[in-house]
Amino acid sequence: MNSGLILATTFLLGFLSACSSKTPEIRPFSEPEKKEFFVVPGEDEKVDLEIIKRGQVLVAYSDCYQCHKEADKAKGPSFSDIARRYPMREAIIDMLARKVISGGFGAWGYPVMSAHPKVSVEDARAMVTYVLSVEGK
Ligand code: HEC
Repeated sequence: MNSGLILATTFLLGFLSACSSKTPEIRPFSEPEKKEFFVVPGEDEKVDLEIIKRGQVLVAYSDCYQCHKEADKAKGPSFSDIARRYPMREAIIDMLARKVISGGFGAWGYPVMSAHPKVSVEDARAMVTYVLSVEGK
């Protein structure tokens, strides 16, 4: 095969898989209100492993684990459910980082997440990047 044809095929396959991943998928989510959540469609983007590691440390030193666990539901959704719900994408990381800073509710049917006004945008982004990297996707 010549390289042009290989390139075209690769592009086509990439395009097709990008299209098929856009179908929203509903996964069961039972506690605490027996709600299901929409998995937000989108491909993961590559992120720097150093940011994930920094985020993990920041999360450990903040109050996140008062309400979140890695794999189980607590006062808030588990980090692995959050990671299953959202693709690792810049726009999503921004949105969730803002929510960590200002607090909020309504996305999961849990009570309110407290605000973290002292956390910088950069740190909140690193924390969220870590959360979205949690295994169990
Ligand atoms: C007082 C309890 C509490 C603390 C402390 C807390 N959270 Fe949350 N968190 C929640 C709740 C409750 C929700 C679900 C909010 C909702 O339903 O919209 C949530 C949701 C989230 C989400 C998903 C938001 C969404 O819109 O889907 C992320 C990401 C998150 N928390 C990260 C963190 C991080 C990082 C920290 C530490 C800086 C933290 N949380 C500290 C209670 C908490």
